Amino acid sequence: MAAPGPPLNIVHVNHSRPAKFGVQCGPYAEVETLSTTAEKGQGMNPTKPASTAAETRRDSLTIIDNRNGRQYEVPIKNDTIRAMDLRQIKVHESDFGMMNYDPAFSNTASCISKVTFIDGDKGILRYRGYSIEELSDKSTYPETAYLILHGELPTQSQLKEWTYHITHHTFIHESIKKFLDGFHYDAHPMGMLISTVAALSTFYPDAKDIFNPESRLKQTYRLIGKMPTLAAFAYRHSLGMPYVYPDNDLSYSGNFLNMLFRTTELQYRPNPTLERALDILFILHADHEQNCSSTAMRGVGSSHVDPYSATAAATAALYGPLHGGANEQVLRMLLEIGTVNNVPAYIKSVKAGEKLLMGFGHRVYKNYDPRARIVKRIAYEVFDVMGRNPLIDIALECERIALEDEYFVTRRLYPNVDFYTGLIYQAMGFPVTMFPVLFAIPRTSGWIAQWEEMLLDAEQKISRPRQVYLGYDLRSYIPLDHRK
Ligand code: ACO
Repeated sequence: MAAPGPPLNIVHVNHSRPAKFGVQCGPYAEVETLSTTAEKGQGMNPTKPASTAAETRRDSLTIIDNRNGRQYEVPIKNDTIRAMDLRQIKVHESDFGMMNYDPAFSNTASCISKVTFIDGDKGILRYRGYSIEELSDKSTYPETAYLILHGELPTQSQLKEWTYHITHHTFIHESIKKFLDGFHYDAHPMGMLISTVAALSTFYPDAKDIFNPESRLKQTYRLIGKMPTLAAFAYRHSLGMPYVYPDNDLSYSGNFLNMLFRTTELQYRPNPTLERALDILFILHADHEQNCSSTAMRGVGSSHVDPYSATAAATAALYGPLHGGANEQVLRMLLEIGTVNNVPAYIKSVKAGEKLLMGFGHRVYKNYDPRARIVKRIAYEVFDVMGRNPLIDIALECERIALEDEYFVTRRLYPNVDFYTGLIYQAMGFPVTMFPVLFAIPRTSGWIAQWEEMLLDAEQKISRPRQVYLGYDLRSYIPLDHRK
């Protein structure tokens, strides 16, 4: 271990345009040759003092280690430095070298991605460069899923082929019904979904061929096609109702509604407003860059497991109440509040740290979540068909107070996507336990895109963070009869 000393001193950021050097660290170099070394792609240069600001205008960061006065220059690229560049910072040669400590990855980029862009301060969300507002207005979920996965909007024939393959992979093996039958009638549908999607890997051993593009495409069709079927079957199981098989003549969201709600009709005809509302909700939930579940997908997938097992892990991550399970918690919260008059008391308990205002706050958005704005609008369209959900008034009052209250304003807590979705789902007749399932279905396209990007990224390896060990040093085993 390094001797304790004064902290590391990051002297300054040296910016210039364009970037002239790469990001790999090289051997130590004398400071006189700093710029030459940097241009050759050799990043860190300890030992000599900083030059003047004018001399050192480069895309790099100068760090002084105050434990020994050594100075390092670390390349900056895309406004990031490489954590591995810190490893050369040592007091003694035998030291392990410096790491950055970032619990919950609050300020760590773990990958380079071209899928989804978020500007949390401005409240911007784009898939492959297209704004969420325009996609939700003009696109469909299958088209958006194609865009997310392939990087470009499909041509007419590409969309036709894509839709055909997804539609023709909606059926599931009959044995999966036997798994579902084993669950209690009140089993949470997310638990059933996680288990059955994991079980798909046993039906498709070819899915292990993850570096074969044809195999990946086939599993993509299967996953996007079968997720709604697994979800709907889980729902029907909880009702004790017979499973409804997919109807290939319906749209993606229309068929899902069919598998959920069809009873005695010869052919189910979804209400077009509800069908479109669900389709838009699917678009809004399709991807959200490096969130908890995508990180799970990438992390588990980095061990080169098949995509069904990785998707099961991502679905499990989404299940939690701080992530995709939040929409369920929002509705439970609104039911607990009960009336508009009770909102101030609830907000007071939130501010006292006793509760969370579910559906508020986001790690990335420090502004109104752009998806929440669209969801709020759709809510009224659904209410026109299904009747107004009275909980909307409680939600609106929570939002009104929170947007003016100093506690929420100073912490930049705004409604996130989950705040209003539950109201729509409830108005459409879904039980609260189905809410996170409705999130998992469309997020599958985003998970697969993130997984594939990770697999094809030559820089990625098995995901394996470091730790700061502060536990015991070596100690001797104490026999049981000697322990106090
Ligand atoms: N209600 C009350 N206070 C909150 C809330 C909330 N919903 N969210 C954050 N805060 C407070 C925290 O207590 C903290 O206060 P402090 O500075 O006094 O300690 C401050 O705001 C910062 O919050 P963090 O927890 O540090 O923010 P973080 O980025 O870690 O968490 C999260 C983000 C998990 C989304 C959080 O805001 C939360 O728990 N929200 C409620 C659950 C929710 O809606 N999740 C859905 C997120 S969207 C999605 O996954 C699809």
